[in-house]
Amino acid sequence: MMIQAKGLTKNYGPSSVLKGLDLEIPGGQFVAIMGESGSGKTTFLNLLAGLDRADGGSLSVAGVELVGKTKDQLVSFRRDHLAMIFQDFHLLGGLSAFENLLLPLRLSGKTADKERLHRLLAQVGLEGKEHKLPQQLSGGEQQRVAIARALALEPKVLLADEPTGNLDRKNSEAILGLLKGLQQSTGMTLVMVTHSNKAAAVADRLVTLEDGCLL
Ligand SMILES: Nc1ncnc2c1ncn2[C@@H]1O[C@H](COP(=O)(O)OP(=O)(O)O)[C@@H](O)[C@H]1O
Ligand SMILES: [Mg+2]
Repeated sequence: MMIQAKGLTKNYGPSSVLKGLDLEIPGGQFVAIMGESGSGKTTFLNLLAGLDRADGGSLSVAGVELVGKTKDQLVSFRRDHLAMIFQDFHLLGGLSAFENLLLPLRLSGKTADKERLHRLLAQVGLEGKEHKLPQQLSGGEQQRVAIARALALEPKVLLADEPTGNLDRKNSEAILGLLKGLQQSTGMTLVMVTHSNKAAAVADRLVTLEDGCLL
C-alpha cells in the first residue's frame, strides 16, 4: 500500500476531528475525498503530508510511518516523497512561473535540469508564459504552474486540497483533465479533496469523510 491509515485520530483541543480513520490506497490510485465543510478533509491531508501530527493510530505513506516522527524527519519525508497543490495555488508572488518551479528543487537539493522544467511548463500548457509573474496569469494558469511545480519534484504521492475550488467551470474541467492525464502517465498516487461531484468523478475511487471516519 502506498498509503495506509489505521485508527487515525486527531484532536484540536477538546474537539476530535478524526476519530479512528482507516484507509488503504494502493500505489498509482487516484482517490477523491469528499465530505462537508469542517469534516476534517484538510486535517487528514495535512497528516498525510506530514505537516501536522496525529494523536493516535498509525499512518504510513510511501513506506514511512509518520506517527511519532520528529519535525526534522517529517521535513525529509516531505522532500523525498511528496508534493501538494492547493485551492489558492500558493505560488511565490515575486517569482516567474519558471522560478516557481526552480526554487523548491534548489531548496530540496535536487538537480534542477532547466530543459526539463521548460518541458514541464509546456506540458501543462504554459509554453511562452515561463517568465510571467503569478499576478500576470489567470487562476487556471496559476494552478497549472502549481501542478508543474509539484511534478518537478517527481513525487510518489501528490496531495491536492480542492485544486479547482477557485476556478470557473471551464478551467476546473481543464485542470481535472490535466491532473488525471498526468496521474496516469506518471503512475503517481493522487489524493484529491473536492467539493465537486464532477471532480470526484474523474477519480478511480471516492471516499467520504463523515463523523471523523471514512465511509
Ligand atoms: N489548527 C486548528 N486548530 C483548531 N481547530 C482546527 C484547526 N484546523 C482545523 N480545525 C477544526 O477542525 C475541523 C476540521 O477542519 P478541516 O480539516 O479544515 O475541515 P475541511 O477541510 O473538511 O473543511 C473544523 O471544525 C475546524 O474548525
Ligand atoms: Mg479544507
